[in-house]
Amino acid sequence: MKVSFHGHAIIQVETTKKTILFDPFITGNGLTDLKLDEVKPDVIILTHGHDDHVGDTVELAKKHGSLVIANYELGEFLLNEGVENVHTMHIGGAYTFEWGKVKLTPALHGSGYQTKDGHMVYCGNPAGVLLTIENKTIYHAGDTGVFSDMKLIGDRHPIDVAFVPIGDNYTMGPEDAALAVEFLNPKTAVPIHYNTFPPIKQDPHQFVDMLGTGVGKVMNPGDVLEL
Ligand code: NI
Ligand code: MN
Repeated sequence: MKVSFHGHAIIQVETTKKTILFDPFITGNGLTDLKLDEVKPDVIILTHGHDDHVGDTVELAKKHGSLVIANYELGEFLLNEGVENVHTMHIGGAYTFEWGKVKLTPALHGSGYQTKDGHMVYCGNPAGVLLTIENKTIYHAGDTGVFSDMKLIGDRHPIDVAFVPIGDNYTMGPEDAALAVEFLNPKTAVPIHYNTFPPIKQDPHQFVDMLGTGVGKVMNPGDVLEL
């Protein structure tokens, strides 16, 4: 299985059967290596309703008939936008699809979508996501501050790779993210959600240096982890 990072909070998981894309913010993402017309997700998983995460979901899902997994309110919003194949969930809940298991975990953040006419649509609680697929567990923290229940997440779910935001300002910064990794205790921790915009400029190598030996891994956009 290939797990790849594509700038900001975009993670792609490719098995021999499915391509799963987290938070496909491609248009307007100056860091991503992805091209909108080359991406063909079978499944799109969204952590929350902010545009730097929802991104191109509506266009991609309409074009490819992708299954979109999101919290209930965000899922209903996407149905209203014309996305047909939506599976809604909520925090604490897990669902086993034929290709893998998805569980939504808490995140401390916001979740509104600003429409073109300037209205902010409520998009439910933000979440993190545990994806268990082919006997591996991938944790996408979403946008969040650190919280001590991450220890519970780590204790109950052995995590192979955790993607954690380090940008600060909107999410935890490097020091809090290092504490989050201590709580989560993953085999590998990869920093995300930094350097996309000026307020979230960070040095990911400084973050990795704060972690235990061999835990942290900086991935450049397009880099692949084989799991
Ligand atoms: Ni956000
Ligand atoms: Mn964000």
